[in-house]
Amino acid sequence: MKSGKKTGGTSARTVRSRSAQPPVFGPGPVPIRLNVNGQILATTAEPWLTLLQVLRQKLGLTGAKQVCDHATCGACTVIANGKRVYACSMLAIDVQDAEIKTIESLASNGKPSPLQQAFVDADASQCGYCTSGFVMSATAFLAENPDPTLDDLRKGMCGNLCRCGTYAGITEAILAMSQTKTSSRKKARRG
Ligand code: FES
Ligand code: FES
Repeated sequence: MKSGKKTGGTSARTVRSRSAQPPVFGPGPVPIRLNVNGQILATTAEPWLTLLQVLRQKLGLTGAKQVCDHATCGACTVIANGKRVYACSMLAIDVQDAEIKTIESLASNGKPSPLQQAFVDADASQCGYCTSGFVMSATAFLAENPDPTLDDLRKGMCGNLCRCGTYAGITEAILAMSQTKTSSRKKARRG
């Protein structure tokens, strides 16, 4: 009798603990829906693929680059819910609720965004592998801090690396977009 009661209690606990288990996905492809650049994009992908892999390999959005693939260089930077993230370091399946922006969203009617144009004007690119990551990171950075000092910029952009060493041009491009520069340029034009 005693042992029967014990068995029943154990069984109930087992049922409770089984029902509390998180759902298991994979290992094969599963449906994934991502909100990218204002569009819901549906695909199937293995649940262990990163956001970067799904963007590039499944959705054809190759602007974010796979360089270090270890959350070090920033070449894969995209914006998720307004914040800069390394797309190589998060699973696509985990960000299905996020609003994701990639470099492909910046140009409009075939024209680069003002920041992209500033990169061109400042000759801020050599091989270009880091460029889309820098542009996306700087887009979010300037939204957070529209009038940065040089020191703000150095600290705020430290998550992106350029192996070609085009930091002078990148700095010039980002500072050209700061409010102070823009308003002083307007004043200069008016004066
Ligand atoms: S490729 Fe993601 S941080 Fe380098
Ligand atoms: S332009 Fe080559 S890594 Fe930055």
